[in-house]
Amino acid sequence: SNKIAVFASGTGSNFDAIMEACDKGTLNADVTLLVSDKINAAVIEKAQKRNVDTVVFNPKSFENKAEFEKALLADCQARDVEWIILAGYMRLIGSTLLEAYPKRIINIHPSLLPAFPGKDAIGQAIDKKVKVTGVTVHFVDDGMDTGPIIAQEALSISEEDTKDEVRRKIQAVEHQLYPQVIQSLLIKEEAK
Ligand code: GAR
Repeated sequence: SNKIAVFASGTGSNFDAIMEACDKGTLNADVTLLVSDKINAAVIEKAQKRNVDTVVFNPKSFENKAEFEKALLADCQARDVEWIILAGYMRLIGSTLLEAYPKRIINIHPSLLPAFPGKDAIGQAIDKKVKVTGVTVHFVDDGMDTGPIIAQEALSISEEDTKDEVRRKIQAVEHQLYPQVIQSLLIKEEAK
């Protein structure tokens, strides 16, 4: 099946890129759910505009991660979701979702992992004055940005680039790469 849920905490430019690829037919997926842990995330309105079901939750109103992940799992299973696509979801995935979706949770990260995991990867790269950075798509495991790497794309940056410019460059790569990688995973799965 090609039913996917996107989990996002922020602006949702990657969510939009995925939806646009679906519209164009370059990604043959059915985005059946958008999950957000941030009540005011801009991505929620983007999903509503596209008539994608949204589940918005406040992690603090649950006892622990297992409890909110059980609820999210039910939301995913109710829609026959086969893949969970993290697109700026700023929260570690726990064992409840990992065990239900083995090798089926994917993340995109704005650095060449294993360099600069965690928060503000772009700021970390600028601080180190790296000349080459990039984007990584990887399977999610129980670590912070540590799972097996599926795809990477490098790009050059210069000391003259502002943080906003670096972010623009990174995101332009992300918006191309992520839909492509998702499509290739779906095709591999079909061939099985
Ligand atoms: C993206 O650049 C993504 O790589 C990053 O958050 C941004 C979300 O942007 N993810 C991480 O840093 C995960 N550790 P978006 O909301 O516009 O798609």
